[in-house]
Amino acid sequence: MRSKLILGNWKMHFTVKQAVSFAGKLAAKPIPEGVTVGVIPHALALSEIATLLQKTGLKLGAQNAYFQDEGAFTGEISMPMLRGIAKYVLVGHSERRHIFHESNELIRHKVAAAVRSGIIPVLCIGETLVERQHYHTKQVLTDQLVSGIADLTSEEVAKIVVAYEPDWAISDGKSFAKHDVATPEDAQKSSDIIRSNISELYGQEVAKKVKVLYGGSANPDNAAAFLKCDGIDGLLPGGASLNMATFWPMVEIAATTVPTKINVKK
Ligand code: PGA
Repeated sequence: MRSKLILGNWKMHFTVKQAVSFAGKLAAKPIPEGVTVGVIPHALALSEIATLLQKTGLKLGAQNAYFQDEGAFTGEISMPMLRGIAKYVLVGHSERRHIFHESNELIRHKVAAAVRSGIIPVLCIGETLVERQHYHTKQVLTDQLVSGIADLTSEEVAKIVVAYEPDWAISDGKSFAKHDVATPEDAQKSSDIIRSNISELYGQEVAKKVKVLYGGSANPDNAAAFLKCDGIDGLLPGGASLNMATFWPMVEIAATTVPTKINVKK
């Protein structure tokens, strides 16, 4: 069975003290076999949590970084600065694309910069509600994906993570239990789009190796349905990752859910 990856995107939540304390509690939990678990706190908490997590199984990710290695870029942190601290970095999150106007071109540079620094980019792609209503999902996912990985070699593509996160399914951090959410068929279809594009450009072996996550109001009630999709390798919860009672059950579900092939209408 393919290993599963559960990454909690904490977004702009928690003080440093709260983030460190929660990371400590998560790190004390035994991580089930076959599952990789990581947390993605804000930048201020990264280095203290990195120290705390040494010699534990819990992984650490960053929410954002710039593509230049250093220089006059006020307010930014670089990928080399994350080296030795974060294993993953989110790139192209829908909030970065829409609130901070990040373009596909900027995202491509960030993906390449992460790989150059030995950090695994979690390339987030997803359509808006309007794009979905106009049946543009496939085109949008293809554009965001193909552009995002254009500067990578096939060996590099094989090691990245792609997260399908439809913009309209992302919660405000509190509403994840009752928010609109994609169906498992949506997730499977998107995973098929991701892998068929990668297969066409970089070969079938590479497409098989890429990890594809689902994110957007993922929670313990819907986790099994997503993890059952044979194209989905894990979850990127936001709101539900902010407390133990909603985060850890998803880790346990990931350890026990066996994927089955689901047929989706093209
Ligand atoms: P959500 O956030 O689970 O709160 O919808 C997911 C994400 O944006 O990564």
